Amino acid sequence: TSNNLRHVESMSTLPSGAGRISRLNAVILGESLASEEDDLVFPSEAFSKQAHVPSPQKYLEMYTRSIQDPAGFWADMASEFSWKERWGPHVYSENLDVRKGNISIEWFKGGITNICYNSLDRIIDSGHGDKVAILWEGNEPGVDSTLTYNQLLARVCQLANYLKDVGVRKGDTVVIYLPMLMELPIAMLACSRIGAVHSVVFAGFSAESLAQRIIDCKPKVVITCNAVRRGSKVIYLKDIVDDALAESARNGIRLDICLTYENESAVNREYTKWQEGRDIWWQDIVPKYPTTCAVEWVDAEDPLFLLYTSGSTGKPKGVLHTTGGYMVYTATTFKYAFDYKPSDVYWCTADCGWITGHSYVTYGPLLNGATIVVYEGAPNYPNASRCWDIVDKYKVSIFYTAPTLVRSLMREGDQYVTCNSRKSLRVLGSVGEPINPSAWRWFFNVIGEARCPISDTWWQTETGGFMITPLPGAWPQKPGSATFPFFGIQPVIVDEKGAEIEGECSGYLCVKSSWPGAFRTLYGDHERFETTYFSAFPGYYFSGDGCSRDKDGYYWLTGRVDDVINVSGHRIGTAEVESALVSHPQCAEAAVVGVEHEVKGQGIYAFVTLVEGVPYTEDLRRSLIMMVRNQIGAFAAPDKIHWAPGLPKTRSGKIMRRILRKIASRQFDELGDTSTLADPSVVDQLTKLADC
Ligand code: PRX
Repeated sequence: TSNNLRHVESMSTLPSGAGRISRLNAVILGESLASEEDDLVFPSEAFSKQAHVPSPQKYLEMYTRSIQDPAGFWADMASEFSWKERWGPHVYSENLDVRKGNISIEWFKGGITNICYNSLDRIIDSGHGDKVAILWEGNEPGVDSTLTYNQLLARVCQLANYLKDVGVRKGDTVVIYLPMLMELPIAMLACSRIGAVHSVVFAGFSAESLAQRIIDCKPKVVITCNAVRRGSKVIYLKDIVDDALAESARNGIRLDICLTYENESAVNREYTKWQEGRDIWWQDIVPKYPTTCAVEWVDAEDPLFLLYTSGSTGKPKGVLHTTGGYMVYTATTFKYAFDYKPSDVYWCTADCGWITGHSYVTYGPLLNGATIVVYEGAPNYPNASRCWDIVDKYKVSIFYTAPTLVRSLMREGDQYVTCNSRKSLRVLGSVGEPINPSAWRWFFNVIGEARCPISDTWWQTETGGFMITPLPGAWPQKPGSATFPFFGIQPVIVDEKGAEIEGECSGYLCVKSSWPGAFRTLYGDHERFETTYFSAFPGYYFSGDGCSRDKDGYYWLTGRVDDVINVSGHRIGTAEVESALVSHPQCAEAAVVGVEHEVKGQGIYAFVTLVEGVPYTEDLRRSLIMMVRNQIGAFAAPDKIHWAPGLPKTRSGKIMRRILRKIASRQFDELGDTSTLADPSVVDQLTKLADC
C-alpha cells in the first residue's frame, strides 16, 4: 500500500571527499518495516517522521552547511549552551598540516564556560531539577538507587568543595580509579566544576598501569573505592591503588590524599588496608561539605580531561581534551546519532574508564538533560538475560553497546532475550569495533525486533565524539557499515602515498580539517601528537584505521592498520603486551599479533622465545600470562602463547609480523615470500609448533 511505500529521493553529490550517496532512491517495502532490499535496511516511516533528521535531504542540507560554513554551523550549536562570555572573533582556528608549522586546533577560544554547569545547573534552571539523572543498578539484582538532577548537583558540589578544600585548583589533575558507581560520574563532574583535569583510569588496569599514569600526570589526589563485586568475584581496588602509589613514590611522585569510597555492596571498610594520614573515607568527609559550590569559569580551550590510550609503542598516550569544543560536540552528536528526545531513557554499557563512558555515559547525555542508566556489574550476571531485565526494569529506550557483547549474548541463544519484553527500545547503538553483519542482524532482528535502527558509531578516544555514524531515521542502513560522516566531518580515504582516492575505494582513513571534539595534544608530548597522527599523511589527521567506501558512498571500517589490536572493543598496543612478556625473566623475546576471535573480535596471540636452556612448560605459559595480567590488566591477557625457538626476521633484524599473522590464523599456505628472512627455517619450526 502507499503507506508502506516511501521514496527516498535521489541525493546529489556530497561536498568533496565525503563520497556519494547516489542510489538512495530505493523503495521501502512490506509491513515488517525492514526489508533488506539490496542489503539496505530502511527505518520505518513512523520513525523517520518523528526523527530530528527525517530524510537524506535534511541530512544533506545540514551536512553541506556544516562543511561550507563550519563557523556558523558550530556557533549555532554552541549557542544552545551557557557561556559566561562568548568566544573571541574566531569560532575556530586550525593547522592540520605539518608542512605549515605546528599542529594546532582551537574551538571557541576566548569563550568562557563550564561543562559541569552546562550538564547540571543549566538543566535544573530550565525546570528539570526533579528529573532523574542517574538510574544506578548494582551488580546484584535488586540493589539500585537513583539521583535526580538536583540531587546529583548537590553530590557533585560536596565533592567539589572537598577537593577545593584540600587544595585542588584549576588546572590540577585528579586521578579517578573507580568502578561504575554513581561516584564515578560524580567525581568527573566535581573536577570539571572546579576546573580540575580528571584522568580516569579504567578500574581493570593493574597497579603497574595505574602507577605509570600517575607518574605521567602527577595528580594532587587519587579517588578510588575499597572494592567492587564483578559478577561473583570481589576485587580489592584499594590494594591495587596502594601498590600503584608505592610504585609512584619510588619514582618521586608522592600523593598526600587517597579519597576512598566505601563500597559496602562489595565489602565493608574493616577489610581495607589503610594508611593513616593519606587515606580518607569519602563517606566520613564529603557529606560534611555544603551542597552548593561556585563554578570555576574556564576558557573553552582549558583542559577538561586526560585519558590514556594505547599506541604502537609501549608507552600509553595521554589524550588531552579541552572544554568548549568537546562540550558542544559530545552533546550534538549524542542528540542526533541517537535521535535523543527528553522522554528517552538511555543506557550505554561502557565503563567510564574508556572514552565511550566519558562522552556517552557522562557528558553527552547529561548535557542533553537525559536520564541515564549506570550499571555496576557484568552484562551476563547472574545470567544472559540481565541486560534485558535492566531494559525492562527502567524502560530503556536507547541501548548502546559493543559488538563483543552482542556476539556473546547471541551465542547464549534467543531464549534469554525473548523472555523479556524490550518494548521500550527504539534505538540501538554499537561501538568499539566493526560489527559483523550477522551480529548486526541478530541485534536488529532479535533484540530490536526489526523496529530499532542501529547507530554503528565509528570514532576514537582522540576524536572525542562520533565521526561516522548513522542518523537513525535519515537514511537506510547497511548491516556492518557505519554509513556517513557526522556534521562537520570530512573523512577522506588515502592510498599509501597519501593521495586522496575518490568514489568506491579502500585505503587509509583520514580526516580533513578539524572538528570541535578533536583532541588537542598528547599530554606533555606535542611532538608525539604530531608524528603519530599528522605526519604519515601530511595535511590530514590519520586515524590508524583502514576503510572502504562502496558504490553508494557508505563507509565500511576494516580495523586498525597499525600495531594496535582491538580486543572486545578495548584498544591494546602489541608493544605493551610484548614489553610485559619480556619483563618475565625467562622470556627472551616476544612478538604479539591480533587474531580473529569469534566473540572478542580479536584475540591476543603471542609468540615468545625463551632464554637459552629454559624449557617451555605449562607453568611457564601460565606465568607468562600472569605477567601481562599484572602489568596491564586481565583484559590484556594473551589468548594464546606460541613457543617459538626463533622469530622470523629480516636480515636487518626486523620481525616480519605479516608472516606471524598468517601463522597465528593458521593460513600456512599463504605465508608468502619468506626468502628475505635471515633464517627461513624458523617458519617451518613455527608452523610445526603451532598447536603445542
Ligand atoms: O579501530 C577503530 C575501533 O576502535 C578504535 C578506537 O578505539 P578507542 O580509542 O579505544 O575508542 C573506542 C570507542 C570509540 C578505532 O580506531 N572502532 C571504534 N568504533 C568502531 C570501530 N571500528 C569499527 N566500527 C566502529 N563503530
